[in-house]
Amino acid sequence: MESGGAGRPVVYLFGAAAGAVFGLPDVVRDARGRGWEVAVGLTPAARGWLEAQLPGLEELTGYPVKSAYRWPGQPDVLPVPDVVLFAPATFNSFNSLALGLTTSWVVGCAAEALGKGIPVVVMPCVNTALAAHPQFARSVATLREAGVHVLLGEDGFVPNEPGTGDARPFPWDAALRTVDRVLGGPEERRAEWAALAEHWGPAWDHGWVGTSMGDLLRLALAEPGLAELWPCTSMNQLRLSRSRDFRDAGGESFPAVAAWQGGYRVLAAPAWEGAETVLETTDPAEALACLLGLLDRPGR
Ligand SMILES: Cc1cc2nc3c(=O)[nH]c(=O)nc-3n(C[C@H](O)[C@H](O)[C@H](O)COP(=O)(O)O)c2cc1C
Repeated sequence: MESGGAGRPVVYLFGAAAGAVFGLPDVVRDARGRGWEVAVGLTPAARGWLEAQLPGLEELTGYPVKSAYRWPGQPDVLPVPDVVLFAPATFNSFNSLALGLTTSWVVGCAAEALGKGIPVVVMPCVNTALAAHPQFARSVATLREAGVHVLLGEDGFVPNEPGTGDARPFPWDAALRTVDRVLGGPEERRAEWAALAEHWGPAWDHGWVGTSMGDLLRLALAEPGLAELWPCTSMNQLRLSRSRDFRDAGGESFPAVAAWQGGYRVLAAPAWEGAETVLETTDPAEALACLLGLLDRPGR
C-alpha cells in the first residue's frame, strides 16, 4: 500500500478536543519517522486549542491542517489516505462517528473512509462517567461491527475517573502499532515470520522436511534486514518478497532457500526450474548468511 509522496503510505491523523491532542506534534514526528506521510485534521474545538501549534504542524507534515469542509468546486488539498487514525476521539466525536452525524470535517471524512473501504483506527478518550453512558457501548459495538479498529481497554485507552485528568498517559504507542499493522509494516511482517517459524516447529517433525525450515526461520527472526521483506514458505522452500505478491515468482528477483531433513540448498532465484544452486549445507546459520549475502548483491 504505497500512495504518498516518494511511495510513502498516507496516514490521516485526526484529533478532537481532549487533553491528549496536545501530543500530536510528537506523534507526527514519530509517524514520519516510520516512513509515513501524515496529514493532520482537527475538530474546530481542537483547532482552537492547538492554534499556536498549527504553523509547526503544517511545517512538519507539509500539508495544511484541515478542519473545515472545502467550498463547492474547491480542489482537495490532501492526498488520498491509506488509513485514518482518529485519536484522541472525544465522547462527542466518537458517538458522532457511530451515529453518522458529520458536523465536523474530520468525523465526516472518517465516516466516508469507512464506506470507501479505507481502514479506520479510533482511540477514544473519555472518563469512566462518559464511558458508562448507554450510547458509548452502543457506539463501540456499531463501529467495531463496521470494521473500525476501536482501541479501548486492553491494548488501548482505559478510561480515567472523572476529575483525575490525564492520570495515565494516552497510549499513542498502541495507536501507532495498530496503524503499522494495518499498513502491513514491520510489526505485521514480524508476526508473519513468527507464525511461519511456529508452523515449521516440533509439531511438524515428520516427513522429509522435518523441523529444518523452522530452525532456519527462527534464526531469520533475529535478523533485522529481513524484517523489511515478506516471507513465504511453499512446500519446503522459503521465498522473500518486497511486494508480498508471490503469484509471479519470476517477477521477484529474490533468492530462496530449499530445506529438507537436516539440509539446505540456497538458490539464486526463487524458481525450481533452472534455479542456480549457490550453496548446499547442513547448517541453518550458514544458509541464512548466504541468503543475506545474495540479498546484498548490487542490482537487487
Ligand atoms: C480541558 C478539557 C479537557 C477535556 N477532555 C475531554 C476528554 O478527555 N474527553 C471528552 O470526551 N471530552 C473532553 N472535553 C470536552 C470536549 O472538549 C467537548 O465535549 C468538545 O465539545 C468536544 O468537541 P469535539 O469532539 O468536536 O472536539 C474536555 C474539555 C476540556 C475543557
